[in-house]
Amino acid sequence: MPTIAVLPGDGIGPEIMHEGVKVLQAAAKKHGLHLDLHEALVGGAAYDATGHPLPLDTLDLAQRADAVYLGAVGGPKYDKIPDPNLRPERGALLPLRQKLGLYANLRPCVLYPSLASACPLRADLVEGGFDILVVRELTGGLYFGQPKGWDGDRALDTCVYTRDEITRIAHVAFRAAQVRPNRRVLSVDKANVLETSRLWRETVTEVAKEYADVILSHQLVDACAMDLVRRPQSFDVIVTENLFGDILSDEAAQLTGSLGMLPSASLGERKVDGGTFGLYEPSHGSAPDIAGTGQANPLATILSGALLLRYSLGAEAAARDVEDAVSRVLQGGYRTRDIMEADHRNHVTCRQMGDLVAGIVMHD
Ligand code: IPM
Ligand code: MG
Repeated sequence: MPTIAVLPGDGIGPEIMHEGVKVLQAAAKKHGLHLDLHEALVGGAAYDATGHPLPLDTLDLAQRADAVYLGAVGGPKYDKIPDPNLRPERGALLPLRQKLGLYANLRPCVLYPSLASACPLRADLVEGGFDILVVRELTGGLYFGQPKGWDGDRALDTCVYTRDEITRIAHVAFRAAQVRPNRRVLSVDKANVLETSRLWRETVTEVAKEYADVILSHQLVDACAMDLVRRPQSFDVIVTENLFGDILSDEAAQLTGSLGMLPSASLGERKVDGGTFGLYEPSHGSAPDIAGTGQANPLATILSGALLLRYSLGAEAAARDVEDAVSRVLQGGYRTRDIMEADHRNHVTCRQMGDLVAGIVMHD
Protein backbone atom coordinates (compact mmCIF):
# COMPACT_ATOMS: atom_id res chain seq x y z
CA MET A 1 0.00 0.00 0.00
CA PRO A 2 1.56 3.36 -0.98
CA THR A 3 2.46 5.65 1.90
CA ILE A 4 1.71 9.34 1.52
CA ALA A 5 3.24 11.91 3.87
CA VAL A 6 0.68 14.70 4.34
CA LEU A 7 2.26 17.97 5.45
CA PRO A 8 -0.36 20.74 5.76
CA GLY A 9 2.00 23.47 7.04
CA ASP A 10 0.94 27.06 7.75
CA GLY A 11 -1.58 29.74 6.84
CA ILE A 12 -4.11 28.35 4.38
CA GLY A 13 -2.06 25.11 4.21
CA PRO A 14 -4.31 23.06 6.53
CA GLU A 15 -7.57 24.14 4.84
CA ILE A 16 -6.44 23.53 1.27
CA MET A 17 -4.82 20.25 2.29
CA HIS A 18 -8.07 19.12 3.90
CA GLU A 19 -9.77 19.48 0.51
CA GLY A 20 -6.81 17.97 -1.35
CA VAL A 21 -6.88 14.86 0.82
CA LYS A 22 -10.65 14.63 0.49
CA VAL A 23 -10.42 14.54 -3.31
CA LEU A 24 -7.37 12.25 -3.31
CA GLN A 25 -9.22 9.76 -1.13
CA ALA A 26 -12.33 9.97 -3.27
CA ALA A 27 -10.30 9.20 -6.40
CA ALA A 28 -8.39 6.41 -4.65
CA LYS A 29 -11.60 4.82 -3.42
CA LYS A 30 -13.21 4.94 -6.82
CA HIS A 31 -10.21 3.26 -8.42
CA GLY A 32 -9.73 0.65 -5.69
CA LEU A 33 -6.45 2.13 -4.47
CA HIS A 34 -5.62 1.90 -0.79
CA LEU A 35 -3.53 4.75 0.55
CA ASP A 36 -1.68 4.88 3.83
CA LEU A 37 -1.80 8.58 4.81
CA HIS A 38 0.38 9.96 7.60
CA GLU A 39 0.21 13.57 8.68
CA ALA A 40 3.18 15.46 10.09
CA LEU A 41 4.17 18.98 11.06
CA VAL A 42 6.20 21.24 8.79
CA GLY A 43 7.10 24.93 8.61
CA GLY A 44 6.02 27.44 11.23
CA ALA A 45 3.60 24.94 12.75
CA ALA A 46 6.51 22.57 13.35
CA TYR A 47 8.72 25.40 14.62
CA ASP A 48 6.07 26.38 17.17
CA ALA A 49 5.65 22.80 18.36
CA THR A 50 9.27 21.58 18.29
CA GLY A 51 11.63 24.54 17.74
CA HIS A 52 12.51 23.38 14.20
CA PRO A 53 10.56 23.87 10.93
CA LEU A 54 11.60 20.45 9.64
CA PRO A 55 11.64 18.00 12.59
CA LEU A 56 13.54 14.75 12.07
CA ASP A 57 10.31 12.74 12.35
CA THR A 58 8.84 14.70 9.45
CA LEU A 59 11.93 14.29 7.29
CA ASP A 60 12.01 10.61 8.13
CA LEU A 61 8.37 10.13 7.18
CA ALA A 62 8.92 12.01 3.90
CA GLN A 63 11.98 9.90 3.08
CA ARG A 64 10.11 6.65 3.66
CA ALA A 65 6.95 7.66 1.78
CA ASP A 66 6.01 7.01 -1.84
CA ALA A 67 4.96 10.64 -2.15
CA VAL A 68 4.75 13.82 -0.10
CA TYR A 69 1.64 16.00 -0.27
CA LEU A 70 2.38 19.47 1.03
CA GLY A 71 0.20 22.55 1.69
CA ALA A 72 2.25 25.70 2.19
CA VAL A 73 4.71 27.09 4.71
CA GLY A 74 5.62 30.47 6.16
CA GLY A 75 3.98 33.63 7.39
CA PRO A 76 4.88 37.04 8.76
CA LYS A 77 5.23 35.69 12.29
CA TYR A 78 8.09 33.45 11.17
CA ASP A 79 9.91 36.04 9.07
CA LYS A 80 11.18 37.45 12.36
CA ILE A 81 12.97 34.28 13.48
CA PRO A 82 16.57 35.53 13.84
CA ASP A 83 18.28 32.45 12.40
CA PRO A 84 17.32 32.37 8.67
CA ASN A 85 17.88 28.62 8.64
CA LEU A 86 15.01 28.18 11.08
CA ARG A 87 12.53 30.15 8.95
CA PRO A 88 9.99 27.91 7.23
CA GLU A 89 11.13 28.54 3.64
CA ARG A 90 14.85 28.11 4.20
CA GLY A 91 14.58 25.71 7.12
CA ALA A 92 11.90 23.36 5.80
CA LEU A 93 10.84 23.79 2.17
CA LEU A 94 14.27 24.16 0.56
CA PRO A 95 15.92 21.42 2.68
CA LEU A 96 13.00 19.08 1.94
CA ARG A 97 13.51 19.61 -1.80
CA GLN A 98 17.26 19.20 -1.48
CA LYS A 99 17.37 16.23 0.92
CA LEU A 100 14.76 14.40 -1.10
CA GLY A 101 16.72 15.08 -4.30
CA LEU A 102 13.76 16.75 -6.02
CA TYR A 103 15.55 18.63 -8.77
CA ALA A 104 12.74 18.70 -11.35
CA ASN A 105 9.78 20.95 -10.67
CA LEU A 106 6.92 20.63 -13.16
CA ARG A 107 4.33 23.40 -13.25
CA PRO A 108 1.60 22.94 -15.84
CA CYS A 109 -0.08 26.28 -16.66
CA VAL A 110 -3.29 25.53 -18.51
CA LEU A 111 -6.00 28.04 -19.30
CA TYR A 112 -9.34 26.35 -18.69
CA PRO A 113 -11.79 27.64 -21.34
CA SER A 114 -14.32 28.45 -18.62
CA LEU A 115 -11.77 30.67 -16.88
CA ALA A 116 -10.77 32.59 -20.02
CA SER A 117 -12.33 35.78 -18.71
CA ALA A 118 -10.36 35.53 -15.45
CA CYS A 119 -7.16 35.81 -17.52
CA PRO A 120 -5.86 39.39 -17.30
CA LEU A 121 -4.91 39.45 -21.00
CA ARG A 122 -7.05 40.66 -23.88
CA ALA A 123 -9.42 37.93 -25.05
CA ASP A 124 -7.94 37.77 -28.58
CA LEU A 125 -4.51 36.88 -27.13
CA VAL A 126 -5.76 33.77 -25.37
CA GLU A 127 -8.64 32.61 -27.53
CA GLY A 128 -8.59 28.82 -27.66
CA GLY A 129 -6.56 28.66 -24.45
CA PHE A 130 -2.91 27.75 -23.90
CA ASP A 131 -1.01 24.91 -22.33
CA ILE A 132 2.45 25.74 -21.00
CA LEU A 133 4.61 23.41 -18.95
CA VAL A 134 7.27 25.15 -16.89
CA VAL A 135 10.12 22.79 -15.98
CA ARG A 136 12.02 24.55 -13.21
CA GLU A 137 15.38 23.32 -11.90
CA LEU A 138 14.74 23.15 -8.17
CA THR A 139 17.86 22.29 -6.20
CA GLY A 140 20.57 24.48 -7.72
CA GLY A 141 21.35 28.06 -8.60
CA LEU A 142 21.08 31.05 -6.30
CA TYR A 143 18.81 29.32 -3.80
CA PHE A 144 21.45 26.83 -2.72
CA GLY A 145 24.83 28.12 -3.90
CA GLN A 146 27.52 28.72 -1.29
CA PRO A 147 28.82 31.02 0.06
CA LYS A 148 25.73 32.85 1.16
CA GLY A 149 25.59 35.43 3.89
CA TRP A 150 24.92 38.89 5.23
CA ASP A 151 27.54 40.91 6.97
CA GLY A 152 26.65 44.50 7.86
CA ASP A 153 26.13 46.42 4.63
CA ARG A 154 27.12 43.55 2.37
CA ALA A 155 25.07 40.48 1.50
CA LEU A 156 25.99 37.65 -0.80
CA ASP A 157 24.28 34.82 -2.71
CA THR A 158 26.09 32.55 -5.12
CA CYS A 159 24.75 31.12 -8.36
CA VAL A 160 26.37 27.79 -9.22
CA TYR A 161 25.37 25.18 -11.79
CA THR A 162 27.21 22.07 -12.87
CA ARG A 163 26.93 20.41 -16.25
CA ASP A 164 25.37 17.35 -14.61
CA GLU A 165 22.66 19.39 -12.91
CA ILE A 166 21.74 21.02 -16.21
CA THR A 167 21.91 17.77 -18.16
CA ARG A 168 19.43 15.94 -15.93
CA ILE A 169 16.84 18.73 -15.92
CA ALA A 170 17.19 19.10 -19.70
CA HIS A 171 16.36 15.41 -20.12
CA VAL A 172 13.21 15.90 -18.02
CA ALA A 173 12.12 18.77 -20.26
CA PHE A 174 12.79 16.92 -23.53
CA ARG A 175 11.03 13.77 -22.33
CA ALA A 176 8.03 15.86 -21.28
CA ALA A 177 7.97 17.58 -24.68
CA GLN A 178 8.08 14.27 -26.55
CA VAL A 179 4.60 13.35 -25.33
CA ARG A 180 3.05 16.75 -26.01
CA PRO A 181 1.47 17.67 -29.35
CA ASN A 182 3.89 20.45 -30.29
CA ARG A 183 7.14 18.85 -29.08
CA ARG A 184 8.92 22.11 -28.45
CA VAL A 185 11.31 23.10 -25.67
CA LEU A 186 12.27 26.69 -24.96
CA SER A 187 15.34 26.98 -22.77
CA VAL A 188 15.40 30.27 -20.87
CA ASP A 189 18.59 31.84 -19.56
CA LYS A 190 20.53 35.09 -19.33
CA ALA A 191 23.44 33.99 -21.46
CA ASN A 192 24.32 37.57 -22.48
CA VAL A 193 25.43 38.24 -18.88
CA LEU A 194 25.77 35.13 -16.72
CA GLU A 195 28.42 32.40 -16.93
CA THR A 196 26.00 29.86 -15.46
CA SER A 197 23.63 30.71 -18.30
CA ARG A 198 26.33 30.15 -20.91
CA LEU A 199 26.96 26.70 -19.49
CA TRP A 200 23.20 26.18 -19.34
CA ARG A 201 22.74 27.01 -23.03
CA GLU A 202 25.67 24.91 -24.18
CA THR A 203 24.54 21.90 -22.12
CA VAL A 204 20.89 22.03 -23.15
CA THR A 205 21.97 22.29 -26.80
CA GLU A 206 24.11 19.18 -26.32
CA VAL A 207 21.29 17.18 -24.69
CA ALA A 208 18.92 18.21 -27.50
CA LYS A 209 20.94 16.10 -29.95
CA GLU A 210 19.44 13.01 -28.30
CA TYR A 211 15.91 14.23 -29.06
CA ALA A 212 15.64 14.66 -32.80
CA ASP A 213 11.84 14.75 -32.54
CA VAL A 214 11.83 17.85 -30.29
CA ILE A 215 12.50 21.40 -31.48
CA LEU A 216 14.74 23.39 -29.15
CA SER A 217 14.99 27.16 -29.01
CA HIS A 218 16.59 29.58 -26.55
CA GLN A 219 15.44 32.86 -25.14
CA LEU A 220 16.75 35.40 -22.66
CA VAL A 221 14.67 35.56 -19.51
CA ASP A 222 13.64 39.20 -19.85
CA ALA A 223 12.35 38.63 -23.38
CA CYS A 224 10.56 35.50 -22.23
CA ALA A 225 8.82 37.40 -19.43
CA MET A 226 7.59 39.86 -22.05
CA ASP A 227 6.47 37.25 -24.55
CA LEU A 228 4.48 35.39 -21.90
CA VAL A 229 2.09 38.32 -21.74
CA ARG A 230 2.36 39.15 -25.44
CA ARG A 231 1.86 35.75 -27.06
CA PRO A 232 1.27 33.06 -24.40
CA GLN A 233 -0.04 30.63 -26.98
CA SER A 234 3.36 30.36 -28.62
CA PHE A 235 4.82 28.50 -25.60
CA ASP A 236 5.01 24.77 -25.04
CA VAL A 237 7.67 23.46 -22.57
CA ILE A 238 9.86 26.07 -20.87
CA VAL A 239 12.97 24.77 -19.12
CA THR A 240 14.91 27.11 -16.91
CA GLU A 241 17.00 27.50 -13.77
CA ASN A 242 15.67 27.85 -10.25
CA LEU A 243 15.13 31.59 -9.79
CA PHE A 244 13.95 32.28 -13.35
CA GLY A 245 11.54 29.35 -13.04
CA ASP A 246 10.18 30.66 -9.77
CA ILE A 247 9.39 34.03 -11.33
CA LEU A 248 8.20 32.88 -14.77
CA SER A 249 5.91 30.22 -13.29
CA ASP A 250 4.11 32.81 -11.16
CA GLU A 251 3.71 34.99 -14.23
CA ALA A 252 2.38 32.10 -16.32
CA ALA A 253 0.11 31.04 -13.46
CA GLN A 254 -1.54 34.42 -13.29
CA LEU A 255 -2.40 34.09 -16.98
CA THR A 256 -4.52 31.06 -16.08
CA GLY A 257 -6.69 33.30 -13.91
CA SER A 258 -5.04 32.89 -10.53
CA LEU A 259 -1.97 31.54 -8.80
CA GLY A 260 -4.56 29.54 -6.88
CA MET A 261 -4.93 27.29 -9.94
CA LEU A 262 -1.30 26.22 -10.40
CA PRO A 263 -0.25 22.77 -9.16
CA SER A 264 3.28 21.43 -9.03
CA ALA A 265 5.16 18.16 -8.96
CA SER A 266 8.75 17.98 -7.78
CA LEU A 267 10.49 14.81 -8.89
CA GLY A 268 13.89 13.21 -8.43
CA GLU A 269 15.45 9.91 -9.40
CA ARG A 270 14.06 7.53 -6.76
CA LYS A 271 11.63 4.96 -8.13
CA VAL A 272 8.66 3.71 -6.12
CA ASP A 273 6.18 0.94 -6.96
CA GLY A 274 3.83 3.22 -8.92
CA GLY A 275 6.43 5.42 -10.62
CA THR A 276 8.71 8.14 -9.27
CA PHE A 277 8.89 9.48 -5.74
CA GLY A 278 7.74 13.08 -5.65
CA LEU A 279 6.56 16.04 -3.63
CA TYR A 280 3.31 17.68 -4.67
CA GLU A 281 2.33 21.16 -3.61
CA PRO A 282 0.45 24.17 -4.94
CA SER A 283 2.79 26.77 -6.41
CA HIS A 284 1.31 29.52 -4.25
CA GLY A 285 2.28 30.38 -0.71
CA SER A 286 0.53 30.21 2.66
CA ALA A 287 -1.57 33.39 2.15
CA PRO A 288 -1.77 34.18 5.89
CA ASP A 289 -4.03 37.19 5.18
CA ILE A 290 -6.92 34.93 4.17
CA ALA A 291 -6.17 31.90 6.37
CA GLY A 292 -9.27 30.67 8.18
CA THR A 293 -11.68 32.83 6.14
CA GLY A 294 -12.77 30.08 3.74
CA GLN A 295 -11.62 32.16 0.77
CA ALA A 296 -8.64 30.03 -0.23
CA ASN A 297 -8.77 28.29 -3.58
CA PRO A 298 -8.01 24.58 -3.04
CA LEU A 299 -7.78 23.77 -6.77
CA ALA A 300 -3.98 24.08 -7.05
CA THR A 301 -3.70 21.58 -4.20
CA ILE A 302 -6.38 19.30 -5.63
CA LEU A 303 -4.66 19.38 -9.03
CA SER A 304 -1.33 18.65 -7.31
CA GLY A 305 -3.06 15.55 -5.92
CA ALA A 306 -3.84 14.55 -9.52
CA LEU A 307 -0.14 14.86 -10.35
CA LEU A 308 0.64 12.68 -7.30
CA LEU A 309 -1.71 10.02 -8.61
CA ARG A 310 -0.12 10.23 -12.05
CA TYR A 311 3.61 10.36 -11.29
CA SER A 312 4.03 8.54 -7.95
CA LEU A 313 1.12 6.09 -7.92
CA GLY A 314 0.87 5.32 -11.63
CA ALA A 315 -2.89 5.93 -11.41
CA GLU A 316 -3.44 7.83 -14.66
CA ALA A 317 -7.20 7.18 -14.82
CA ALA A 318 -7.67 8.48 -11.27
CA ALA A 319 -5.56 11.55 -12.09
CA ARG A 320 -7.71 12.28 -15.16
CA ASP A 321 -10.87 11.88 -13.08
CA VAL A 322 -9.68 14.58 -10.71
CA GLU A 323 -8.67 16.91 -13.55
CA ASP A 324 -11.98 16.35 -15.35
CA ALA A 325 -13.93 16.98 -12.15
CA VAL A 326 -12.12 20.31 -11.66
CA SER A 327 -12.92 21.26 -15.23
CA ARG A 328 -16.58 20.41 -14.76
CA VAL A 329 -16.91 22.32 -11.50
CA LEU A 330 -15.46 25.37 -13.23
CA GLN A 331 -17.79 24.87 -16.20
CA GLY A 332 -20.63 24.80 -13.70
CA GLY A 333 -19.69 28.35 -12.76
CA TYR A 334 -18.41 27.64 -9.26
CA ARG A 335 -15.69 30.03 -8.19
CA THR A 336 -13.62 30.79 -5.14
CA ARG A 337 -12.99 34.47 -4.62
CA ASP A 338 -9.67 34.68 -6.49
CA ILE A 339 -11.16 33.45 -9.77
CA MET A 340 -14.50 35.19 -9.51
CA GLU A 341 -15.35 37.35 -12.52
CA ALA A 342 -17.58 40.40 -12.36
CA ASP A 343 -20.62 38.44 -13.57
CA HIS A 344 -19.96 35.66 -11.05
CA ARG A 345 -22.58 33.02 -10.53
CA ASN A 346 -21.78 30.62 -7.77
CA HIS A 347 -19.34 31.85 -5.20
CA VAL A 348 -18.08 28.97 -3.04
CA THR A 349 -15.78 28.56 -0.07
CA CYS A 350 -12.65 26.45 0.02
CA ARG A 351 -14.52 23.57 1.62
CA GLN A 352 -17.48 23.75 -0.78
CA MET A 353 -15.07 23.67 -3.71
CA GLY A 354 -13.47 20.52 -2.30
CA ASP A 355 -16.88 18.92 -1.75
CA LEU A 356 -17.97 19.70 -5.31
CA VAL A 357 -14.86 18.19 -6.89
CA ALA A 358 -14.90 15.13 -4.60
CA GLY A 359 -18.59 14.63 -5.34
CA ILE A 360 -18.03 14.53 -9.09
CA VAL A 361 -15.00 12.24 -8.74
CA MET A 362 -17.03 9.79 -6.65
CA HIS A 363 -20.27 9.73 -8.57
CA ASP A 364 -19.50 10.27 -12.24
C1 IPM B 1 7.68 28.39 -4.85
C2 IPM B 1 7.83 29.35 -3.71
C3 IPM B 1 9.11 29.02 -2.98
C4 IPM B 1 10.23 29.08 -3.98
C5 IPM B 1 9.41 29.91 -1.77
C6 IPM B 1 8.31 29.86 -0.75
C7 IPM B 1 10.75 29.58 -1.15
O1 IPM B 1 7.83 30.66 -4.17
O2 IPM B 1 7.55 27.19 -4.62
O3 IPM B 1 7.66 28.85 -5.99
O4 IPM B 1 10.67 30.17 -4.35
O5 IPM B 1 10.64 28.04 -4.44
MG1 MG C 1 7.37 30.86 -6.22
